[in-house]
Amino acid sequence: MSNSNVTVCVRFRPLSHKERKANDKVCFKKLDSESFVFKDERDEDVIFSFDKVFYDDAEQSDVYNFLAVPIVADAVNGINGTIISYGQTGAGKTYSMEGPSILHCNELKTGLVQRVVNGLFECLRTSEDITTWTVKLSMVEIYLEKVRDLLDLSKDNLQIKESKSQGIFIYGATEISIMNSSDALERLSIISVYWSKLQEGIANRAVGETRILYLPFLNS
Ligand SMILES: Nc1ncnc2c1ncn2[C@@H]1O[C@H](COP(=O)(O)OP(=O)(O)OP(=O)(O)O)[C@@H](O)[C@H]1O
Ligand SMILES: [Mg+2]
Repeated sequence: MSNSNVTVCVRFRPLSHKERKANDKVCFKKLDSESFVFKDERDEDVIFSFDKVFYDDAEQSDVYNFLAVPIVADAVNGINGTIISYGQTGAGKTYSMEGPSILHCNELKTGLVQRVVNGLFECLRTSEDITTWTVKLSMVEIYLEKVRDLLDLSKDNLQIKESKSQGIFIYGATEISIMNSSDALERLSIISVYWSKLQEGIANRAVGETRILYLPFLNS
């Protein structure tokens, strides 16, 4: 892993049934677990390197183990962590984060969100150093430069502030106390379903990408 505090990975999803039927071709070539070759518009080979490349045979657990396990371990030691999933529509962001569904999917397809939540509570449960802890959950959407509270839709323009004790934080975001992982996943699932419905409603949206930010707050 790099010495930086930021890890950047790329994940390729398998061609969909529709893409295979249309005889679409894959436009990159695997080099190794950190680099791939991409043909640019002049048909020249360009090599791209990342901390890790997850090819289309990568499992959800591979992504979790490489990317999220260190963040979960840091979080229980009071170090903030963030996972950002970025990409064009249909690239596989939701699949990587949630799998087919937050609550109902098999072990193999379980996404990062569920794995992180389970991992966090497992670390807290088995820690010899931490005897009391509080886990709080907030969920916001950033869209058209506005921060909206998904746990309280009346808060539709939250402000981002910075303080000496907390660093950068979202002022006034609703926080709910979470006692165990199923508690957290049920809450996240309700919001996730709501959010997909919202997406259907704005299917003709002008932008190609959608963004969502998961903010776990942990006070130990
Ligand atoms: N690694 C993967 N393995 C199998 N199927 C995948 C994988 N990644 C994505 N898919 C499938 O590809 C399709 C598009 O993925 P997904 O909905 O996650 O895209 P997205 O980036 O969230 O798009 P949007 O910005 O429109 O929300 C889905 O049907 C999903 O199940
Ligand atoms: Mg999505």
